[in-house]
Amino acid sequence: MQEFDVIIIGGGVIGLSIARELKKNGVERVAILEKNGVCGKEASSAAAGMLAPQAEADKADDFFRFCQESRDLYPQFAAELLEEKGIDIELDQTGTLYLAFDEEDLEEIERRFEWQQAAGLPVEKLDEWDIAAVEPNLSKFVVGALRFPLDWQVENKKIIDALVRRAKNEKQPEVVPAEIDDLLFNNGKVIGAKSFYREFFAPVVVIASGAWTSLINYSENVAESVKVTPIRGQMMTFTSPNLNYGEKLFQHVIYSPRGYIVPRRDKRILVGATVENVGFQFGVTGAGLASLLEIAFEISPQFRNLILKKTWAGLRPKTPDGLPLLGEYPENSGLYFATGHYRNGILLAPITGKLIAEKIAKGVDSPFLKIFNPSRFVNNS
Ligand code: FAD
Ligand code: GLY
Repeated sequence: MQEFDVIIIGGGVIGLSIARELKKNGVERVAILEKNGVCGKEASSAAAGMLAPQAEADKADDFFRFCQESRDLYPQFAAELLEEKGIDIELDQTGTLYLAFDEEDLEEIERRFEWQQAAGLPVEKLDEWDIAAVEPNLSKFVVGALRFPLDWQVENKKIIDALVRRAKNEKQPEVVPAEIDDLLFNNGKVIGAKSFYREFFAPVVVIASGAWTSLINYSENVAESVKVTPIRGQMMTFTSPNLNYGEKLFQHVIYSPRGYIVPRRDKRILVGATVENVGFQFGVTGAGLASLLEIAFEISPQFRNLILKKTWAGLRPKTPDGLPLLGEYPENSGLYFATGHYRNGILLAPITGKLIAEKIAKGVDSPFLKIFNPSRFVNNS
């Protein structure tokens, strides 16, 4: 029998961020139970690493504010990971461009410009000449763009490397290979979790199991509240080998209304992504690759000569309203959820880790843990 103070089910960027924050808050015996044995191999590695609240939002709602707050934590998060673990997560603060190619796209960017300006957000409108000056390698068919100076990017795989790296003599994070099927309760209070082979005991259990969240057995009400669907995202990456050291074909993260490209420090350029409700399928398909090539070629003719390096797919965890599931489940003391981050889990990792850990360690209640509590899906009438 193994006993801990907190058990976290799932070692993606969310589970790992919570483990780190628990440690900062003085909680010592934390176990991450991970079905792959190794952390961070699923959506958290598949992601594009964009920190883009403004490029992805349609209005200034609670979710947008949650994303902004997490984005604002990133400079310190990056600095701390460098200091603590010696890993540079490549926070790039150049900003993001959102392109328009026709009248319809122009209307779309005009709508975004208006609500974001009215909300007091930093956003710039660029014409063809401005765009050619900042990104000369884009398609000549670009007719306008928005620039979001505070939408950034990171190398998400380096976040995982940093979060799993232990300092000398450190026991945390303790990662236990285990696929959890069931939770253990005593009078409605959670007391642990169970795989086919083993039981693990703790007064606090955090479900951070991403797209697989609904596969764990729950009580009826909880099951009703945590319907998480896997949404496949296919990606590809190119390299630009003919560039000299320090040269980059693109400076910004670049969105079109159909997809995005992300230029990385090591000269790779990621192209993403499909959004497909196809269950637990990881395959990269012909149709997926064709749509990614279309996105790439629309954004820049340069892709015709770049070298295709790799393709992959990951599963985003999506809830019925597209918002995360966060906080303690009201009917089951000690049972916490931190999942359903859908298209923004990398962006939201710092704030999720902080709020969940502060609630567990110190009882600090953030309004966000109420707004995104999974009990919102229970029909109490
Ligand atoms: P995961 O990383 O999937 O981790 C969940 C972990 O739980 C896994 O390791 C899994 O093995 C484990 N697990 C599951 N069930 C069990 C069980 N029963 N027992 C034990 N372990 C279990 N977000 C951004 O912010 N910016 C982006 O640019 C971005 N781009 C994306 C591009 C693509 C193609 C995809 C697929 C996603 C993208 N996302 C992006 C979304 C982001 O990747 C996810 O929201 C985030 O990684 C979710 O993290 P997680 O830790 O909840 O899930
Ligand atoms: N946020 C980018 C994606 O989910 O594809």
